[in-house]
Amino acid sequence: MSSVTLPRPLTAVPRVPGAVPFLGHALALWRDPLGFLSSLRRHGDLIRVDLGTMPMYVVTTPDLVHEVTVRQAGSFEKGRFFDRLRPLAGNGLANSDGELHKKHRRMIQPMFSRERITGYSEIMSTNAQALADSWQDGDVVDLEPAMAGYAVETLARTLFSTDIGLPAVDAVRKNLPVLLTNLLVRAASPKMLDRLPIPANRRFDKAAAALRAVIDEVIATSRATGETGHDDLLSLLLAAEDSESGSHLSDVQVRDELATILFAGAETTAATLAWTFHELATRPDVEEALLAEIRQVVGDGPVTAAHVPRLTGIRRVIDEVIRLHGVTLLMRRTTGPVTLGGVDMPPGTEVAFSLYALHRDPGLYEHADRFDPDRWLPERQAAGPGRRAYIPFGAGNRKCIGDLFVWTEATIAIATLLRRWRLVPVPGHTPREVASAVAHADRIPMTVVSRGQ
Ligand code: HEM
Repeated sequence: MSSVTLPRPLTAVPRVPGAVPFLGHALALWRDPLGFLSSLRRHGDLIRVDLGTMPMYVVTTPDLVHEVTVRQAGSFEKGRFFDRLRPLAGNGLANSDGELHKKHRRMIQPMFSRERITGYSEIMSTNAQALADSWQDGDVVDLEPAMAGYAVETLARTLFSTDIGLPAVDAVRKNLPVLLTNLLVRAASPKMLDRLPIPANRRFDKAAAALRAVIDEVIATSRATGETGHDDLLSLLLAAEDSESGSHLSDVQVRDELATILFAGAETTAATLAWTFHELATRPDVEEALLAEIRQVVGDGPVTAAHVPRLTGIRRVIDEVIRLHGVTLLMRRTTGPVTLGGVDMPPGTEVAFSLYALHRDPGLYEHADRFDPDRWLPERQAAGPGRRAYIPFGAGNRKCIGDLFVWTEATIAIATLLRRWRLVPVPGHTPREVASAVAHADRIPMTVVSRGQ
């Protein structure tokens, strides 16, 4: 006789121990976000965490994350985390839902095609070369700001290729770090805290308003003068037409998309690059192999998009860095009744998952905390935890639109910098992970030593 297991009600989902009145688990999440998120799988596949008085249901296995992001994606919208980003990114691609998201995704996707990225790769290469040229033998470089400068400059130049974009490039450089620093705490805090006139909120709101204003100005100027680059994202967005309805994006929509791309693409890329040099310094053998690969594939000239797919050693290093230091927390909200992990969820249920925690799960990865790029060799991948266990760019209809962009951008930067410079950790400082949208480093000071070419 076969037995049928009936779905359990939401109230049956165990709550993680340690909640305190009014704040729930918010304090634990503030104090040690990455430790807290990584500890959750010990409590089950589907568990409850309280953000203030709001319950958030966290899934901790690849299969349940797949249910949320792919199989049942139609029954989820983005939810609270993204609601809290609206002052910055409005209804841009990362925040919008349903038909609006589908339509905008259709319009924006071609701007991230392989051909377009090959076009943007010249900017990537020029900027990487400029960064390499700016260092002197023996300089101590703080890698986080250096890589943030490269990532922001590259994005800004891709968005606004002409000089009318210069004020925006400056504003982005100034305001984006303020926004990113406050991102996760704001997204995960009880909403009532948003309105408190504490400095963190004031800084966030001021920086978001400044960024919006300056982007608006650039859009207005380029509309008025007709002066844009031909292939930058600003002109593509202004000209974009929906293939089904024939409609165009409004100025506000164009601004929201630009702001979204900036916040989604800057810190993630900067952190990945900064960690790469830190991790490589722990594995001189891997660094030597990369150098040999760069010399063989690229030689002495500029690194181009055509080289990127052939730099497979760099690809493994990037994959491993994003596994270790990836996106901390993502959220969704059910739009209708959903059964997830054997539990019935009513509409409006907030569901979350941590890619960071998933990618460091010792039940999935051998020596999960170890930097080991060779785990991505094809022969070892076959014995690995499978595709669902590695989703640094998410999955399904909300998957990152910038994955090819960042792969190209990071590969070009790593190849350009590594060929010229050896980066040596400054003794006495061990970088600490700080949770924001991704797990970035507090500081990575390194001495740059010329390779003598
Ligand atoms: C290492 C670098 C990056 C990582 C790890 C990363 C990761 C992610 C992840 C996990 C998502 C899915 C979020 C969700 O499911 O809720 C996402 C979405 C997104 N990313 Fe990235 N990203 C990176 C770089 C970039 C870059 C360079 C850009 C733009 C140039 C970008 C633009 C976007 C956008 C627009 C979305 C929203 C897509 C949608 O909802 O349709 N990302 N990213």
